[in-house]
Amino acid sequence: MGRIEELCALTDPCASFADVGCDHGYIARHVLKSGKCGNVLITDISAKSLAKAEKLLAEYIDGGLCRAVCCDGLAGVPTDTEQVLIAGMGGEEIIKILSEGFIPHKFILQPMKNADKLRKFLLGNGCKLIYDGIFKDEKFYFVIKGERSGGRQDYSPVQLAFGRDSIGSQTLKEYAQAELEKDRARLEKCVDGIQRERITDRIKLLTEVLL
Ligand SMILES: C[S@@+](CC[C@H](N)C(=O)[O-])C[C@H]1O[C@@H](n2cnc3c(N)ncnc32)[C@H](O)[C@@H]1O
Repeated sequence: MGRIEELCALTDPCASFADVGCDHGYIARHVLKSGKCGNVLITDISAKSLAKAEKLLAEYIDGGLCRAVCCDGLAGVPTDTEQVLIAGMGGEEIIKILSEGFIPHKFILQPMKNADKLRKFLLGNGCKLIYDGIFKDEKFYFVIKGERSGGRQDYSPVQLAFGRDSIGSQTLKEYAQAELEKDRARLEKCVDGIQRERITDRIKLLTEVLL
């Protein structure tokens, strides 16, 4: 499966859905085609990006199945939206969006980096992580599906770093192998003490994944 199909497969049937930072609108198109979600909202901070999505999804917008809003983060998304997807942004940007807005009832998040920080944020806010895994579509992607409340999961450092459901998977092992090579090369060149410590800690976690 490709990245978009992976993300859509995690989407639950719902009465209202928002794709925040939709860009071209491909994910929303997949969701709309599946017929799983009603009342689809697409948003983007960039009017230019949103215009691309509006063009792609014109038949759904004209048919009243989809609505487009240009806004920053969750500013234009009703708080009672059942399910919100935020994909293709950095983990810190996603944390900012959730902190400045709200944590949706159900969410699917696909951070491009800093997935560990995002996990920490979600767990620290009492979220229940339903699926916290990794997939590969040319590149490796972490994906987190969860709910706003009901979470009391105790994560180990390695689960926090790479996702609870990734542990033991062949995909994570492949990821760890590739990252280890990069981190060892970085460590060789690095002279800054704090930075060396960070890389060494990460190498330890990556090695644990391969055991
Ligand atoms: C790399 S694209 C990802 C597009 C799509 N979500 C995907 O995963 O294929 C990131 C999109 O997020 C939008 N974006 C970045 N920060 C945003 C924010 N704070 N609020 C809404 N959209 C944002 C950008 O304009 C861009 O269109």
